[in-house]
Amino acid sequence: MVVMNRKPLMVGNWKMHGSHLEAIQRVQKLSYRLDPSDYDRVEVGVAPPFTSLRSVQTVVQMDDLRIRIVAQNLHWAEQGAYTGEVSATMLAKLSVSYAIVGHSERRQYFGEDDRAVNRKAKAALAAGVIPIVAVGETLEQREAGETLQVLRKQVGGSLARIPSEQVDRLVIAYEPVWAIGTGRHANPADAQDTIAGIRAQVRDRHGAAADGVRILYGGSMNPGNVAALMAKRDIDGGLVGGSSLDPDTFAACIRYWR
Ligand code: 13P
Repeated sequence: MVVMNRKPLMVGNWKMHGSHLEAIQRVQKLSYRLDPSDYDRVEVGVAPPFTSLRSVQTVVQMDDLRIRIVAQNLHWAEQGAYTGEVSATMLAKLSVSYAIVGHSERRQYFGEDDRAVNRKAKAALAAGVIPIVAVGETLEQREAGETLQVLRKQVGGSLARIPSEQVDRLVIAYEPVWAIGTGRHANPADAQDTIAGIRAQVRDRHGAAADGVRILYGGSMNPGNVAALMAKRDIDGGLVGGSSLDPDTFAACIRYWR
């Protein structure tokens, strides 16, 4: 049996919270709470709003922090007349390592469909930014027993025409919509089953590359539930919203084994 060494990835998605000054404080405080052995064990990322990316990048570079800079979104075009948008090339220039694409809030409030998510994922890869492709079912879909079907469509559509050689670098985030910001996280055994199902789908299409894909869980992850979720073999990290805004709480999520 091949045992894949997938380094856990914990990303704090700050969503639309805080000025660039608050972002500077937040990332500095987070760094004070982590030591080298934490970074050896877990890859750490923060996803500030666009207005804070440059400030966070400056802190990360000046203090030589092992914290990855993550964007919350991007546009698929390299440049052009797309008022209000930001390209993957611009993000790459700012030392952004990862970009979340297809977050449920973007799907829900900004009408992003799998085709748009796919274009964004491909643009990110072309610019050397690793997409974190977010997928997840709504409560209504779950109660109708449609979870697997919905995820199958989202994963298939979002990853369409991405060559298998690039797939093992990808990150997928399984975020059940009903668990986001509700304080109600998925049961770890259910999350494991669902995430194993996503990996099996990637394996059907891309073979062994599926063993390299990191699949994160997101949705009300906090210091109290993170260890049980991370104990599951297919859960490779977390996309943490509310609990990432406070550096103490996020640090406790990152150090989930302690
Ligand atoms: P919460 O952790 O606040 O539920 O948010 C999860 C999320 O949407 C991360 O992207």
